[in-house]
Amino acid sequence: MASDSELSEEELDVSHGDRVRYHCYTSKHERYQFDFTDEERGETMRAMQDNATLLRSLYDRGVPFFSKQIFRDLVSQLDHGRANPRPATGAEAHVIRIPTVDGSFVECELEAGRVVRLGVPGDPQSPDQEIVMRDPHLDYRTFQRLSLVDDPSWFSPYLARCPCRLIYPLDVRQISTGEIINPWDKEPAEDVQIVFDKAVRAWEDSDECRRLRSAFENAPLPTINNIVAFACSSMLGKDDRSRAATQHALILTMRDIIAKRQPGAQSQTQIKCFAQDPFYAKADVEVLGRSGITILEDPRAFLKVDDQSLVISFHPNIPVRQIITDIARPAVMIWNRVESEAELDASWQATGEVYNPAFMTDPESSRVRDMVRDHYLKRPIAIGPEEMFGSGAAVYIRRD
Ligand SMILES: C[S@@+](CC[C@H](N)C(=O)[O-])C[C@H]1O[C@@H](n2cnc3c(N)ncnc32)[C@H](O)[C@@H]1O
Repeated sequence: MASDSELSEEELDVSHGDRVRYHCYTSKHERYQFDFTDEERGETMRAMQDNATLLRSLYDRGVPFFSKQIFRDLVSQLDHGRANPRPATGAEAHVIRIPTVDGSFVECELEAGRVVRLGVPGDPQSPDQEIVMRDPHLDYRTFQRLSLVDDPSWFSPYLARCPCRLIYPLDVRQISTGEIINPWDKEPAEDVQIVFDKAVRAWEDSDECRRLRSAFENAPLPTINNIVAFACSSMLGKDDRSRAATQHALILTMRDIIAKRQPGAQSQTQIKCFAQDPFYAKADVEVLGRSGITILEDPRAFLKVDDQSLVISFHPNIPVRQIITDIARPAVMIWNRVESEAELDASWQATGEVYNPAFMTDPESSRVRDMVRDHYLKRPIAIGPEEMFGSGAAVYIRRD
């Protein structure tokens, strides 16, 4: 493992404690500048404006911000880096070529395995802990976020045209024992299985599930070969674990509905089920695997999505709707209802706030709106309950 004295605890933005695995370091290219001279501020604002103009023109010309080719290429580079880890000293780090939206690329060092000691080296009061950067996954930037002209302190010229970047989950490791301190991963699979089974029973017994099943009885349904679920979250150790478990239970319900509807797919095993969420712990993988749901690492689930997929995603931390719109026209999407700008403005105004898609994790875009308007049944089917799927969850079926 490489140790790195350049990176400090502050730069990693790490806070100690149980939830440290949720803190992620993105890239040293995203160091921000706060101490501008007037001249520098003006120059940076102009660079942001130029960047926004270029991105808008690419977007308006229909240039995809995300593609399977980009994901395949990044997966292969990351796999190569993982198979050939950087030795402790003396070796150059792997360089990952990150594509820009205008057809070029920038280079970022692969930083997996870097170690940062917490506290002050040599100080006996310092915690016996260090931070280890795990293998990265992708961090996705929407068209709206990339073209935002805002506070120049947060503008990172190097990555300004990169919709995909790398993000490193962090582990805390006890220095004296070498043990990873991760209380989240300790829950036994059998306990998680109980939570999951209970949620499956409760969901299947619910009126909402019955309504969903009956809505699918007569709906025209394109051929579906797989179900790909994003961001259903871990079923371990949280207050709202039954919500995560119910979202996974929906995968099983949809597999059953499709198997009954499609001649030739009598056996449910013919409809493959995949799920992707970087929060999954070992016990999630085991429990979901027993039900035939295969967990894939980001961004590999996107590679499974095609026009014969059913996609599931509720309130993800990444722009699933924009990514899917760029890469496929799935047979069915079950995700947050796609709202018009006027609807969003009105609902935000009612809360006294102003809607800005640049600050949303999974915002609509004109492309997402065009896709559902042009290719999907006019009236999406509502799905509840809200405590399990969030507000405005809806089923979109493609019109063939
Ligand atoms: C706000 S939570 C919503 C979780 C759940 N769907 C719900 O409705 O309560 C966002 C989820 O997005 C997940 N997420 C973040 N990055 C992701 C990625 N690259 N692929 C899939 N899921 C991701 C997070 O781990 C988290 O579980």
